[in-house]
Parts: sequence; structure tokens; C-alpha cells
Amino acid sequence: MKFAATAAVILATAGSTIARPTVAKRALTDADILNYALTLEHLEDKFYREGLANFTQQQFADAGYDATFYKNLKEVSYDETTHVSFLTKALTAAGAKPVAECTYAFGVTSVATFVATASILEGVGVTAYLGAAASIMNKDYLTAAGSILTVESRHSSYLRASLKESPFAQPFDVPLDFDEVYTLASPFIVSCPSTNVALPLKAFPALALAASSAPVTTGKTIQFTTKGSIQPDKGNNFVYAAWIAVTGPTFTKAYIKSGGIIETTVPAGFHGQSYVVITGCNSSVSDDTVKAGPAIVEITGSSGSPFAK
Ligand SMILES: *[C@@H]1O[C@H](CO)[C@@H](O)[C@H](O)[C@H]1NC(C)=O
Ligand SMILES: *[C@@H]1O[C@H](CO)[C@@H](O)[C@H](O)[C@H]1NC(C)=O
Repeated sequence: MKFAATAAVILATAGSTIARPTVAKRALTDADILNYALTLEHLEDKFYREGLANFTQQQFADAGYDATFYKNLKEVSYDETTHVSFLTKALTAAGAKPVAECTYAFGVTSVATFVATASILEGVGVTAYLGAAASIMNKDYLTAAGSILTVESRHSSYLRASLKESPFAQPFDVPLDFDEVYTLASPFIVSCPSTNVALPLKAFPALALAASSAPVTTGKTIQFTTKGSIQPDKGNNFVYAAWIAVTGPTFTKAYIKSGGIIETTVPAGFHGQSYVVITGCNSSVSDDTVKAGPAIVEITGSSGSPFAK
């Protein structure tokens, strides 16, 4: 904890102008957190098994993915299955009831959408473990979670490279809070066994980048779509887009247009798979201030490193 606080200060002074931890502390037990991780691992595990059952090696080849890629996907799938059995055993050993696999709808229609979705899921997996780290009390669990996190980030890099995206788009990864991750995972989850423990998680209203806004680059004005009706806080005629980073969020003013469209401009300093929530104020990102999101925004372009052009 002490180290985490110190590290946050160092990170804050290293980069952003707004030094504010983004990860809210929640009253989740270690068992809750392991079950939260297991919920995500089940999703990933089923995703790869289903995708590899849906598409043959020939279909991957036809989509431009060679035999090595196909073999590596099987290894990724094996890793996810192993993470599921590891967390299941750890929970059982700790006297807690591990959650079982749910029913999912991945909306995958082709090899291309499968690989694109895989890359997004791996990126979200990284943010989930990173965001949960500060809340894990038991150091053995923390190390175990870290050992999964590094593998998820390797999967993420590999898949990003296969999509011709930067494999490591920026110097720091993004920690997302439990509810933020759950918001991203829940659209894939159709139903879960009633015997699964109810985790203290909630999903915010969904937020998505408008298809017409891709590709996204720094400084571009982009639009998000929402289903619900997002209202500004009293006295404002705008909301904020909060761009999540380990150094604290960057807020940009966001304008509510007709048809549930929210418009904002991409700030400097964000690259790769980035995460945006809509808030009413620009002082903090928390369960109390988030109105919608996160949306996932892939920001193309270099990391800002002089070598990544
Ligand atoms: C597998 O195919 C079904 C039927 O087309 C589709 O609904 C599902 O999203 C696919 N899943 C994956 C992971 O490819
Ligand atoms: C945050 O909001 C305050 C008003 O509430 C405003 O004065 C300030 O400029 C805003 N900062 C940013 C970064 O938008």
C-alpha cells in the first residue's frame, strides 16, 4: 500500500498535470476479487475455445493469418483455460465458492472480428488486473495476479501486432476500476448460473465510439453513442470525457448532441487502447461521478516516443 501510494506520486509527477489516483478503493474481499478475475477468465477462455471451434485453420489462412499465428492462438486459449483452473483451485483452497462459466454472446462473425475482439479483450484483461492490484490484501494472491497480468499483456501485444497496431502503444498501462471493467464485460454475458455468487459489481450505462469517428488520432473531434439519456450536472450545458490513465484522468469538455451523441476532442498523451468515461464534473472519476462508459477508443499514431514514428 505504502509503495503503491509512493509509486502513484512518482507516476503523477512524471506525466500528467492532474495527479489523482483513478482506482477507487472498494470493499471487495480477496475472494470477491479472485471471483471477479475468474469471471473475466471464464469469458476469455470460452471466447477462444468457441472461436477456435468456429473457424478452421484454413479460414484463418484465408484471412491472412499463418500457421504460426493459429498455433499461438491455441496457446493463448490454453493459457486462459489454465488461468480458469488456477483461480478455481485458489478459491476452493481459500474456502470460497468459485464462479462457474456463464453463457456469452460475442457477436463474432468472421476471423477478422474474432481477432479484433480478442485483442480488445486482452487489453481489458490487463486493465482489470492492474486496477484490482491495489485492492488485493494477500501478497501471494497479488503475485499470482501479477503473473497472470504479465501474460495477458503479452497476449495483448501479440494480437495488437497481428492487427498492425503498436504492440506497446504507450509507456504505462491503464488501471480500470471494478465497475468500469464490468461495464465492458457485461455486454458479452447473457446469463450466469444462479448458483454463482453475486459479486458487488455494477455496470454503468454503455458508451461506444461512433463507427464514423474511426480511425481516432490525437486532436480529432470524435463522437460517442449512448443508449440512455445523459444529462449534464446542474448549471452546466456540457459534460466531461475523462480519459483514464495511471497518472490520473485527463478531462475534456464533451457536448451532448441529439440522438444520444456525445462529442469531444482527443487530448494529447493517449495512444493505443484507451478508455473514456463520461462524468458530470472534472474533479474525480468515481462510481458517484461516472454517467456512462467506459468506451474503448483505439488511438492510432506513435506513443510520443521519438523512436515510434
Ligand atoms: C461463434 O459463432 C457463433 C455463430 O456464428 C457466433 O455467434 C459467436 O459469436 C462466435 N464466437 C466466436 C468467439 O467466434
Ligand atoms: C474544471 O472545471 C472548472 C469549473 O468547475 C473549470 O474552472 C476548470 O477550467 C475545469 N478544468 C478542466 C481541465 O476542464
